[in-house]
Amino acid sequence: MGAAAVRSKLSTRYNMKFPGTILLTGAGGMLGVRLLPHLKKAFKKSRIFSVFHGAGSQVFETTAVGDLTDKDFLEHVINASQPDLIINLAALTDVERCENEPELARRVNAGIPQALAAQAPDAKLIQLSSDYVFDGKSGSYIPDSLPAPLSVYGKTKLESESMTLQNSRNLVVRASGTFDWLTTGNLFSYFAARLDEKLKVRALSDSFYTPIWADDLARGIVGLLKQETAGLIHYAGPERMSRYYFALVIADEFGFDKTLIERANQKDFNWKARRPADSSLNSAEGYKQAKVTPHTLAEALAIMREQMEAPVSEIT
Ligand SMILES: NC(=O)c1ccc[n+]([C@@H]2O[C@H](COP(=O)([O-])OP(=O)(O)OC[C@H]3O[C@@H](n4cnc5c(N)ncnc54)[C@H](OP(=O)(O)O)[C@@H]3O)[C@@H](O)[C@H]2O)c1
Repeated sequence: MGAAAVRSKLSTRYNMKFPGTILLTGAGGMLGVRLLPHLKKAFKKSRIFSVFHGAGSQVFETTAVGDLTDKDFLEHVINASQPDLIINLAALTDVERCENEPELARRVNAGIPQALAAQAPDAKLIQLSSDYVFDGKSGSYIPDSLPAPLSVYGKTKLESESMTLQNSRNLVVRASGTFDWLTTGNLFSYFAARLDEKLKVRALSDSFYTPIWADDLARGIVGLLKQETAGLIHYAGPERMSRYYFALVIADEFGFDKTLIERANQKDFNWKARRPADSSLNSAEGYKQAKVTPHTLAEALAIMREQMEAPVSEIT
């Protein structure tokens, strides 16, 4: 029996001790950068095929670079990887850009998971989603809470959920406010870079969420995979807080000047996309299922700080 046949036999049993070939898209993004080493460590015998976003279209033995909204590229990726498990992190996460380019947002956020599922119908699909599927009127949402997205981003993430959950073996993981220092473009890297330069930051004190360190989310996803969890799960940070409080805790941990942090309200920003006022998630069931609990913000920042000071080779 060849390797592909063995993989296919095992995949029909969804044996997460050895999920055959894992296809990871969005591998160069904030979560992908953290998830890849955890997958390698947890599933040593699996083949991991990573897809990065970039110009042109190149497909190698275990890596591909290209645009997954390009039908031909996506087909090449599926043919080259023959996945048993797909973890789709490819997304347009810039909420304002989604609002300004709704068709692109839909093509990326809903179209890519739909095409992946269509091209690899036998693979289990893990789709990442967001707290922005809620309108933020109540907060502390559980998976059964009724979604009511306010923005194009939230709507397209909700579409990706419905499509993924059409197959009961698939898994949707909703997260909230992911942050890290390894990648830019998130609230931690923005606040820390400015405060380090002794520049003022405006931080929302009227909007609440449950931020999670990307590495904790990666560990949680691996835990959910190992437990073979399916359906809809929340896996966000353990503490509900405002973005203003988030900035204050960063200042505490890194010794930045707190007087540089100014309270702001959503109306102070000229945003086109509406944001939920309280999109905090209750992830108790997610932690239980994954058998992994994320760090508190202060704990995560302390580890991040050690990593930032350590040689690159010691980070993962
Ligand atoms: N960031 C958060 O706060 C947050 C919160 C809740 C849920 N999530 C979800 O978590 C998942 C991972 O997001 P993240 O935080 O890692 O965000 P990210 O850093 O923006 O990663 C998304 C990745 O998708 C890639 N991508 C975008 N368009 C693509 C395309 N057409 N073809 C192939 N790849 C494409 C991006 O590449 P480029 O950067 O080169 O475009 C990037 O590497 C997403 O589903 C996101 O919606 C994120």
